[in-house]
Amino acid sequence: MAFFLRKIKDLTSKIDKSRLPVHIGIIMDGNGRWAQKRGMMRIYGHKAGVKTVREIVKACSELGIKYLTLYAFSTENWKRPLEEVNFLMDLLVEYLSKEVNELNKNNVKINFIGDISFLPKKCKVEIDRAQNITKENDGLVLNIALNYGGRDEIVKAVKKICHKVVNKELSIDAITEQIVSENLYTQNQPDPDLIIRTSGEKRLSNFLLWQSAYSELWFTDVLWPDFNKKHLIEAILYYQTRKRRFGGI
Ligand code: FPP
Repeated sequence: MAFFLRKIKDLTSKIDKSRLPVHIGIIMDGNGRWAQKRGMMRIYGHKAGVKTVREIVKACSELGIKYLTLYAFSTENWKRPLEEVNFLMDLLVEYLSKEVNELNKNNVKINFIGDISFLPKKCKVEIDRAQNITKENDGLVLNIALNYGGRDEIVKAVKKICHKVVNKELSIDAITEQIVSENLYTQNQPDPDLIIRTSGEKRLSNFLLWQSAYSELWFTDVLWPDFNKKHLIEAILYYQTRKRRFGGI
């Protein structure tokens, strides 16, 4: 344990604090495989995944990351067996009810992105409560992407913009990239600088499609329940080796 803590301290000291990613997005993948490798049901992987959520939120807060977006449930995840979907919803409710006071104490602002209108009532109640309690905080903004899909988000933005055009609040010529960004769930937030995906898959799976146009991508074979602060720091150190040109030279 002492060795592990020393290693984390050494790694942390290598981070250039003046060039931290402002916004990190994480595709938390591999919970099911983590459990199956241990001969357990998939749901135990999700349970173990919550521990990682706790550790990574704390680490981002301590490191001074301003925005963290966690992909918790996609618009496609409804295709999973009903028991798994229900278990995930219950886990979220449990996480929020248990953690909100601690998160609030740590100045974390909780924000949900995605279409929460379809979620079970108990989820909506906890979501409203968590967002309300933490709404004045100015530390880490924790976006939890729930019933979120990047394409669905863009379709919804297009509809909102069309309404404004039809109501003559906006002219077609005034539609810019900025206007599209302002109509996404992440309005007023910077795009992610770094996107991390665990478990060896190398795709975005409908995560922050518009916002990831210039994100640096970091993939690891580590399964989400095994991901820890050390891996997070490795991803940040990788990010700091990248020259970001945003299409320039
Ligand atoms: C992907 O692993 C993970 C998910 C679909 C759910 C992520 C949820 C959590 C970590 C817990 C709840 C979240 C919060 C914010 C409290 P998978 O099941 O697709 O894994 P597999 O690819 O190995 O099957």
